[in-house]
This record gives sequence, C-alpha cells and structure tokens, in this order.
Amino acid sequence: MATTNGGVVNELAVPPTIAGHDNSPTVNGIVTGESASKPLTIDGIAARRAKAGKLKAGTAAYSDSDMFKSPQAYNQPKAKRWDHILSPEAIAREPCVLKQAAGAHLKKPGMLSLGGGLPSSDNFPFESISMQVPHAPLFDKASTEAPESTITIGKHDVRDKDGVLDLSIALNYGQAVGSAQLLRWVTEHTELVSHPPYADWRCALTIGSTGALDSALRIFCDRNRRDSVLTEEYSFSTALETIAPLGIKVFGVRIDEQGIVPQSLDDILSNWDEGARGARKPTVLYTVPSGQNPTGATMGLQRRKEVYNVCSKHDVYIFEDEPYYYLQMPSYDKTNSAARPGAVDAASDQSTEDFLKSLIPTLLSIDARG
Ligand SMILES: Cc1ncc(COP(=O)(O)O)c(C=O)c1O
Repeated sequence: MATTNGGVVNELAVPPTIAGHDNSPTVNGIVTGESASKPLTIDGIAARRAKAGKLKAGTAAYSDSDMFKSPQAYNQPKAKRWDHILSPEAIAREPCVLKQAAGAHLKKPGMLSLGGGLPSSDNFPFESISMQVPHAPLFDKASTEAPESTITIGKHDVRDKDGVLDLSIALNYGQAVGSAQLLRWVTEHTELVSHPPYADWRCALTIGSTGALDSALRIFCDRNRRDSVLTEEYSFSTALETIAPLGIKVFGVRIDEQGIVPQSLDDILSNWDEGARGARKPTVLYTVPSGQNPTGATMGLQRRKEVYNVCSKHDVYIFEDEPYYYLQMPSYDKTNSAARPGAVDAASDQSTEDFLKSLIPTLLSIDARG
C-alpha cells in the first residue's frame, strides 16, 4: 500500500478515499465529512501537502493521479465508459510486462535487478543545473534577472538535501504518465480549475498538445473502420496535419463569433449519410473552446453547455484543446479599447481564486457524464 496526497509513492496507489489517508471519516470506503464535500481550493492544496509531508518519489517511481486527488474528487459518480469506440489498436494493448514484473519482484529482499535498465546517476554528466525564473505576480524581466531569482537543482538534492526532485531522478527513466512530482501539480491544478464532476478521472503528461492529440486519435479512431473527426470549420492547422496522415477524415462544423454552432453540429450528426460522406458517423469532436485557432472565437458558458449536450446526444467524445483558457478577455470594443483592469492585470489585487472564478468553465467541468 502506498501513501497518497503527496506522501511516499514508490508502491502501488490506493485512492485516498479508500485508504482514508487524511483521516477523514469513511462509510463503506467512501469518505464522508467536511473534507469530502468541499471543492478543492488553493489553501486546501497547501494544507493537504503540509499534512502529507515531503513527497518521496525516487527513480522511476510509480505515479498516478489517484495519489493526489482530494477526497472530494472521489465522492462523485463514476464516468461513462467509452469502450465501444476504442480503436482495435487501443484494445490490443496489454500492460507492460517488464513494469509488472518489476512491481511483483523488485521489492523482494536481496533481489538484484538486471531487468529495468536504469543507468547509474554516477555517470550522468551534469552535477547541477541553474536557471533564473520569474516571480509572481509581476513576472518582469528585472526581477527575473536578479541574482536571488536563481534556482539550482543538484544531482543528489533528494539524498543529500531536503529536495523533492533532483537530477539523479529527473534525468533517469520514469513512468509513462510522468514524474510524481509534476503529476501531483498537474492533478491538483486540474481539480482546482475544472473540478471534474466524476470520480475516475486521471491526468497523464505528454510531450505537448500535438503529441497528446496523436495519442488520443490512436486510442479512439481507426482508418479501417472509416472513422472521422469533427472540428470547427476553420481549425488549427497542426491538428489537421496530425489527423490527416492517420487516414481519419475531418469534417468542419459551422462557427460564429462564439465558435461551434450547436444546431449545425446537431444537423450534421442527425443527417449523417455514411455513403455520401465516405466515413462512419463521427465519434470524436476536436475543439478549441477559448481563443480558437485561427478565428479567436471563445464559447460562452451557454454555448459550451449546448455543444456538450449535442455531443452527449450523439455519443461523441470531446477532445478539448485549451491552450488559451487563461487568456480570456472581453469582446473587442472599438470605442473603449483600453485594457480591462482585472483578470489579466498583474497589478490588480484580484486573488487567484477570484481570477479562476472569472473564467468561463471548461468543457471538462461541464461534463457530468464523463
Ligand atoms: C489550439 C492549439 N493547440 C495546440 C497548439 C500547440 O501545442 P503544442 O506545442 O503543445 O503541441 C497550438 C499552438 O499554436 C494551438 O494554437
């Protein structure tokens, strides 16, 4: 059993609600009481980290979002299953034999492993890396260049100092979903911003949005099944270039100043003619809801709900690409074009929580079915 919520993560994860890690009362394995009913806040994250103590995740440590979600995240229904649209490639995948063998045997006392191929950090050619980093809330050049802004990561900061991550761990092999140290932050951030309304969500780190799109397409689409994807009628060119070589057809949905027009989406899906289109009825929508590339359109809350409802009606899975989510601004007003103080103004005294509340909810947070 492993500790969660920022504790030791070298062993298999048990969701904190089941393990009852933060001493919350449980009934039939479900956390009850105050901590289970309150949505996660920034202060809540700090308190959970303080209570859990130092994160101890060594070389190639197992990591999973379930280690870092709050009790509240589990006290929700499970998500809808999407097995029926998985591609044959995704269905054919088996768990990694080597990782399973490592999990089963490496902890045996006296066992010396010749299997994992983890190089010795003694041979890494870097002793430390230093960088100058910006500081909230100004992120300005002058304070970034100040000597006190320098952060140094040594090779053995975890062993020799009070470090959580060091070069001996970071430059070695890791797990596919990403290092525990970064996955913890991404999981907390996702819960804080989107409060996904179902229990069994998880995060995985990728090499970027384009890499994630490529993986997601291979999980859900198959050229031999004549699968197809819907997008805004003007879409992000790199996304289209990622979809096309997989032999997946793309169909554009009409947009207005708020992005996808729900009625148009419904019309396309309701009247799908497989023969005429040369493709199966789409099971995936790729969309950029905020600051859409290339049109700049941003869906309001009502629009997001309508698009989501049409997708639910037709059993369409949504790929939500949100690189510009935090850049939400009011519509351009020619007569009053001065920058609006507030959400994007670092000098304002708006709190981070108020800033997050000012943003239009993500599709993920609207997605009550999973
Ligand atoms: C909508 C959208 N998605 C993704 C990307 C690229 O993301 P990444 O560099 O992580 O692949 C861009 C960059 O322009 C973009 O506009």
